[in-house]
Amino acid sequence: MVEHDALSATREAYDAAAPTYAQLFRDTLRDSPLDRAILGAFAEVVNASGDGQVADLGCGPGHITAYLGELGLAVFGVDASPAMVELARQAYPGLRFDVGSMAALNIADGVLGGVLSRWSIIHTPPRELPVILSEFHRVLAPGGHLLVGFSASDDPSHPTQVFDHTVAPAYRWSPDHLAAMLRKSGLAEVARMVREPQPTDRRQFQEIQLLARKA
Ligand SMILES: C[S@@+](CC[C@H](N)C(=O)[O-])C[C@H]1O[C@@H](n2cnc3c(N)ncnc32)[C@H](O)[C@@H]1O
Repeated sequence: MVEHDALSATREAYDAAAPTYAQLFRDTLRDSPLDRAILGAFAEVVNASGDGQVADLGCGPGHITAYLGELGLAVFGVDASPAMVELARQAYPGLRFDVGSMAALNIADGVLGGVLSRWSIIHTPPRELPVILSEFHRVLAPGGHLLVGFSASDDPSHPTQVFDHTVAPAYRWSPDHLAAMLRKSGLAEVARMVREPQPTDRRQFQEIQLLARKA
């Protein structure tokens, strides 16, 4: 595996933050009908287009992986942080979790019915993102779906903006720019959900969840 400085920094930061992160986000879906709705739609389209496996890439402590499992998907998780993977294995012993990098996935070509990347691309420096998007495309079967979640940039003159994420340096993206990058990687946008910032949110960013399909 090629080791990038940004990836090492992200891994170390999430190793240190893993127990706190797991505790903070354990009940995130219970309080978020919109997240449950888009994950439910993702599960339906994946199930409708075949019975391929689904990978939750950058799965963190595995709570979303487990939810996709409850929705009937054959899902496994991958994360760069060994501490996150250990917590996920402890919490969900019936599921598979691997340590790995989204830039060099240990997954064969064209075998997945779905890829979920939920706020896991945000720590990738923009120049490195095309490699990850082409990995998403490589591992998906034709007709397979990607659901990617990220925070939106609000500066129309810049496709990306750095933001002050608590754990590790992070980037937010113009949704149109990211959709164009996905298209260039062979992943056509199907739909997007835009959640407007709420007064109680710590960060006043739009949250985007973009569903795309491999031709
Ligand atoms: C903000 S957390 C999101 C976790 C989970 N997807 C969720 O929705 O709660 C980002 C996760 O992505 C992982 N990650 C970031 N960059 C990665 C990469 N290049 N390869 C694999 N995992 C990565 C981090 O270790 C971390 O666990």
